Amino acid sequence: MIPGDGIGKEVTAAAVKILDALGGLDLHHLPWSADHFLATGVTIPPDGYDMLRSFDAILVGALGDPRVPDNRHARDILLGTRFELDLYVNYRPVRLLDDRLCPLKGRTRADVDFVVFRENTEGIYVGVGGRFKAGTPDEIAVQEEINTYKGVHRIIRHAFEFARARGRGAVAMADKSNAMTDGHALWQRVFHELQSEYPDVQATHFYIDALAMLLVQNPAQFQVIVTNILFGDIITDIGGALQGGLGMAASANLHPGRTSMFEPVHGSAPPLAGNDVANPIGAILSTALMLETLGRAEDARRIERAVEDAVHHGETTRDVGGTLGTRAAGEAILRRLD
Ligand code: NAD
Ligand code: IPM
Ligand code: MN
Repeated sequence: MIPGDGIGKEVTAAAVKILDALGGLDLHHLPWSADHFLATGVTIPPDGYDMLRSFDAILVGALGDPRVPDNRHARDILLGTRFELDLYVNYRPVRLLDDRLCPLKGRTRADVDFVVFRENTEGIYVGVGGRFKAGTPDEIAVQEEINTYKGVHRIIRHAFEFARARGRGAVAMADKSNAMTDGHALWQRVFHELQSEYPDVQATHFYIDALAMLLVQNPAQFQVIVTNILFGDIITDIGGALQGGLGMAASANLHPGRTSMFEPVHGSAPPLAGNDVANPIGAILSTALMLETLGRAEDARRIERAVEDAVHHGETTRDVGGTLGTRAAGEAILRRLD
């Protein structure tokens, strides 16, 4: 458990109550956060990633604090773990739990039910680049985007395998190959290569700008979306909105067969922090993804049913139309665990 910063601490506290009720897990709390960094100068200790690998799973709240403007601790703790543990699949399901929560006119639960596979270990996040003449009028800033055959292939393959296994017959791949004619040509090549191995799966290419528009205009056409780290970041915040708000969205950072990391899609929301107002559902549904990955699918379904029931009864935080605080909203879900 890495509760982290801001509302990360509050939403993981709510999730832990659910995990405690289900039992069978030995939770170990790690203090890594902005507070810890500011007090000790340490973002993550030298043996931190090895320590994380020794657990069965990692549950994170959120990382980000205005007192650490270069976001160094989040880079080491969050992105560092994704990179060092090679968690190449960022799985972000987008499922509307109640028609009432959809911000789109006339859309219902049947229209919003897709998953995003976001490449999670390369792209423009790798930190390759630098600044020359920084702070002067001649400043040059370079931030390279890395796309490797291996990296692109394994995430697109994962999306096709998921579509086939779940009987979700359509994969949409989104890139910007019309402008990024080298890096994203690789995405095109690999997508077409793999497409021929999955004749049972409908494969469609979209430019990311058009896909972003279509997510708002007609999300029902999407079942499985695969894209790079930056575009995946942006469209999964849109996905959060389609579910009623960012507080509803869950995610898993996976390397199949290895220690994986689970966290809500949202950040530390500094203006909300400490006020018992943050929605704990994204964090709680992330624990369901964690239990499912740990082989406890029935417990994962129990959590999902309890969340849906609480949402249907309006026993939620204010961002999704309820009147409860974070703790009470978590307890409303806890009471409904059958
Ligand atoms: P944010 O996700 O924290 O907040 C965006 C908006 O969504 C805000 O209006 C916030 O109030 C709302 N929101 C988010 N989570 C909510 C919840 N659980 N309940 C109700 N409303 C919620 O994004 P931001 O404001 O851009 O970033 C704040 C900090 O968090 C930054 O330091 C950023 O880098 C960091 N961040 C971390 C993660 C992560 O740890 N995975 C993800 C995103 C942002
Ligand atoms: C997310 C976050 C992170 C990301 C930030 C905090 C680096 O926005 O998990 O969606 O972009 O991956
Ligand atoms: Mn994000």
